[in-house]
Amino acid sequence: MAKIKTSFFCQSCGTQFAKWQGQCTACKEWNTIVEEIIQKEEKVAWKTETSPVKKAAKPLKIKEIDSAEEIRMDTTDGELNRVLGGGLVPGSLTLLGGEPGIGKSTLLLQISLKLPYKTLYVSGEESQKQIKMRAERIEADTDNCYILTETKTQNIFRQIEEIQPEIVIIDSIQTLHTDYIESSAGSISQIRECTAELIKFAKETNVPVILIGHITKDGNIAGPKILEHMVDTVLQFEGDRNHIYRILRSLKNRFGSTAELGIYEMQGSGLREVANPSEILISHKDEELSGTAIATTLEGMRPLMIEIQALVSTAVYGTPQRSTTGYNAKRLNMILAVLEKRAGFRLGAKDVFLNVTGGISVDDPAIDLAVVAAILSSNEDIPVGKDVCFAGEVGLSGEIRPVNRVEQRIQEAEKLGFSTIFVSKYNKIALKNTLIDIKMVAKIEDVVEQLFG
Ligand code: TYD
Ligand code: MG
Repeated sequence: MAKIKTSFFCQSCGTQFAKWQGQCTACKEWNTIVEEIIQKEEKVAWKTETSPVKKAAKPLKIKEIDSAEEIRMDTTDGELNRVLGGGLVPGSLTLLGGEPGIGKSTLLLQISLKLPYKTLYVSGEESQKQIKMRAERIEADTDNCYILTETKTQNIFRQIEEIQPEIVIIDSIQTLHTDYIESSAGSISQIRECTAELIKFAKETNVPVILIGHITKDGNIAGPKILEHMVDTVLQFEGDRNHIYRILRSLKNRFGSTAELGIYEMQGSGLREVANPSEILISHKDEELSGTAIATTLEGMRPLMIEIQALVSTAVYGTPQRSTTGYNAKRLNMILAVLEKRAGFRLGAKDVFLNVTGGISVDDPAIDLAVVAAILSSNEDIPVGKDVCFAGEVGLSGEIRPVNRVEQRIQEAEKLGFSTIFVSKYNKIALKNTLIDIKMVAKIEDVVEQLFG
């Protein structure tokens, strides 16, 4: 019997070691190195002989390479198409990560039920009955979608040869295992090997493969980092489980921009594409309340109007509390310091709570100005006015700094019926004949004066 080869892998970063040690020298994690049995015998993963053409690659001059019209497979889901950069690329591997229960299986099942291509949905997590029940909730009817519950890659490839699907979906990569490696499913070497087999299959047959990947408690896709290097596209499905909105983001895309973003709403009957996100993120109230302000942000290339809510009250305890949801806490502290020092507001002894509504979190610095407006409005107890919105970054000396794509933001605000937008004086704006009143401000004092007189 051949000697069984083993090796040691860090379960956190995937680095391979010759012998066991307490700390991984690569990622500095303790007690993450585990012995795994690697390959016992000669391996034949996805059989190359079955593919029709097999020729050794030859270098070509870049000019000679045929750049014929790039083919994209339409997924019939507008949001997914946008995030992928126009659709699925034949032969590509896409990895979809996200927290448990966020809706990864729902999203991909729903899409496979609508696809105009023959699809094989392989689930290692749920039985065919469970999937059927889920499909019934989604209420789609199709002849194109095949469900397979299987975890062994060799068996999956056998079914693929039989069914000849045009798209393969794997739920999830952590449940797969291959015969050629001994360690248990979900281990670093299994994930790496199964992904390698799927890549080989995808590249040789030109069938795109979508993998679902679990994420660890710190938000990374479970398994070796190398997994993200191996695939062509990494998508992340995120959102607050207590809210209904879900955001599909691309973290890596070999065939398109990573700036695009898809928004869905989780309903009782599956996920609904949200084509005009701004409308849903603003709560429509008849009454004007103090402490809220609307910011025009950009998520990727899409303008998005979001509502910022602030509550400023006298601190009950000795140390005032500062708490934020959806906004960087350090940035809030900075803004409070600027308001105190440059605009003379005594906020040092006040509790400040800040909330971005809709359960989304925003990194765009352009929301600073709306944060300032919301805080001041709550502090003064004067409403900002519901048809006023803001787009500006706040600098350390209290200056309002210009933001990118300001014209696009203004147009979005105008489209949604806002009458006034506050932007930085230093933004160059070439828009003419706008219905919306563009107020150019240079300093926080200007904003205070214009808003609260
Ligand atoms: P699921 O797709 O199983 O999550 P993941 O694969 O990412 O772990 O999503 C499960 C959640 O979605 C579950 O909490 C119920 C909810 N859900 C709906 O709200 N509506 C639906 O139509 C479906 C199918 C699920
Ligand atoms: Mg799932």
